[in-house]
Amino acid sequence: MRAVLLDEKTKMLRIGETEEPDRSAGDVLVRVKATALNRADLLQRRGLYPPPPGASPILGLEMAGVVEEGSGPWKPGDRVMALLPGGGYAERVRIPAGMAMRIPDALSFEEAAAIPEVFLTAYLNLFRLGGLKSGQTALIHAGASGVGTAAIQLAREAGVRTIVTAGSQAKRDACLALGAGEAIDYKAGPFAPRVREATGGRGVDLILDFVGAPYWEQNLASLAIDGKLIIVGTMGGAKVPELDLGHLLARRLQIIGTALRTQPKERKEELTADFAAFALPRFASGKLKPIVDSVWDWNEVEAAHARMESNANIGKIVLRITDGSEE
Ligand SMILES: NC(=O)c1ccc[n+]([C@@H]2O[C@H](COP(=O)([O-])OP(=O)(O)OC[C@H]3O[C@@H](n4cnc5c(N)ncnc54)[C@H](OP(=O)(O)O)[C@@H]3O)[C@@H](O)[C@H]2O)c1
Repeated sequence: MRAVLLDEKTKMLRIGETEEPDRSAGDVLVRVKATALNRADLLQRRGLYPPPPGASPILGLEMAGVVEEGSGPWKPGDRVMALLPGGGYAERVRIPAGMAMRIPDALSFEEAAAIPEVFLTAYLNLFRLGGLKSGQTALIHAGASGVGTAAIQLAREAGVRTIVTAGSQAKRDACLALGAGEAIDYKAGPFAPRVREATGGRGVDLILDFVGAPYWEQNLASLAIDGKLIIVGTMGGAKVPELDLGHLLARRLQIIGTALRTQPKERKEELTADFAAFALPRFASGKLKPIVDSVWDWNEVEAAHARMESNANIGKIVLRITDGSEE
């Protein structure tokens, strides 16, 4: 089959021939129609985020496509989407039956490919780890990112108020249109006083953070008593100079770090089933929307990566996997 291959010397991506997906990866064989970019792809490409043991070395943490070989409830011809530990930038993938989600009829493959990684990440962190409840407030950093746009919508559906940070007016407008209650320009000054002001001095119940070290002190200052800081990325740096543990005790704060990709298969299948029950009816009715920034032919993968590198995207950057016959 063909896949996007990484030239280890030049770090350039190009489409080339490779082996069919490993049978041990799962019983359901899927012809991939679309995949989507994630920040992790940029890191993996630079050698900074190796795939977990047993995962495909090919980039791509999600895909949407058509079942070619079924198993369990899945039959050839079914339209499915799934989270992957790797291998999405390819013509075919194998997945365990428990990882597949049926694509609602209303969604295209390009829209469906924009769902698994960011929506499952947001769902895991807001509800399972974060335990957010209706009436609470969450601060979502990088609100216009793939994960951010998913988190704003999931929070809205659960009755959770969101405050976001984002780096441009277009991004802040997009967040507000998705249901964010407040959008802060983090480039205009510290966000913590704005969060305090927006919550009547109380602070937020949960922070979903991708920025890390530069936000550390302001994040702690933005949390309410019993608040949770959930760290899922360190785009701005990972090392904090000092930590006064007294803050954690006095204000009963919790700090959680997590990664979706390395979770055991059983936990990912359980998360997928739980998320599908909550979200698929809402995608079918249009209450939840995959936020697609742009769609690129997979021949244009370099340009698609450059768009994410430049922080230009609002929502997901999608790659259409063509077999040449469409051209
Ligand atoms: N742990 C997990 O399980 C997991 C799973 C999925 C994703 N993630 C992480 O979640 C984060 C978002 O991923 P994504 O694919 O949704 O990203 P994305 O769509 O590429 O958006 C990232 C946005 O973050 C903002 N940003 C980048 N560097 C920044 C910095 N140094 N300080 C402040 N803001 C910065 C930029 O928006 P502005 O213009 O607003 O600055 C950028 O557009 C990444 O860190 C990714 O690794 C973690």
